[in-house]
Amino acid sequence: MINLEFRRPAPTDRAAFEDWIADWHEDAYDAYRWIFARAWTDFDWYVATCERMRTDGCPPELTVPLDVQWAFEQQTLVGELYLFYEPLAGDNHIGYKVRPSHRRKGIATALLLHGLDRLREYGIAIARLTCRDTNLASAAVIERAGGTRLDDKRGAEGHRTRRFTIPTDRDSVSPPLVV
Ligand SMILES: CC(C)(COP(=O)(O)OP(=O)(O)OC[C@H]1O[C@@H](n2cnc3c(N)ncnc32)[C@H](O)[C@@H]1OP(=O)(O)O)[C@@H](O)C(=O)NCCC(=O)NCCS
Repeated sequence: MINLEFRRPAPTDRAAFEDWIADWHEDAYDAYRWIFARAWTDFDWYVATCERMRTDGCPPELTVPLDVQWAFEQQTLVGELYLFYEPLAGDNHIGYKVRPSHRRKGIATALLLHGLDRLREYGIAIARLTCRDTNLASAAVIERAGGTRLDDKRGAEGHRTRRFTIPTDRDSVSPPLVV
């Protein structure tokens, strides 16, 4: 049974974030790119940016507010959850990543379920999610959490994107999920 503690990034998490970053250097997935690229080297900027994006949004690159939450297993930062209460580009309410050394333990599934709970509390009945067509791991996580696939979309960079909907009320997902 996974026991995760969720909280927003805080200045006191510097050591945990440095440890998390070190885990990502050899991974194929580029954990921080686009407007987040500075997170690789600037913890203070990233924490401040997360707070600003939650309260203001970040035009023009990000037109909707972003709520970043971190998941800790004891003192270790194991997962990062991005919550968009208005779907990014109309298609994505939730993003997640799990540190490479802690995969295949159900952490992404726990992040996604936590995100669905937050959206439900916010009054959103159906969450929208996307992943690259090549990201079979993420697609599996979404489908196992009750995701229904919609038609694919061609992304701005030319890649194919899978799109899904998931009810945020877990009781409506059959069979019920237990994490
Ligand atoms: C995708 C990712 C979030 C999965 O995290 P995770 O914690 O390992 O996922 P879970 O343990 O919850 O996996 C749940 C199920 O999804 C499927 N799955 C997960 N990773 C998989 C993989 N690499 N290959 C095939 N299936 C996979 C399995 O069915 C798995 O259940 P099982 O372990 O009992 O077989 C993680 O690999 C990651 O952070 N990748 C880089 C970031 C990323 O791609 N984020 C998503 C962007 S859309």
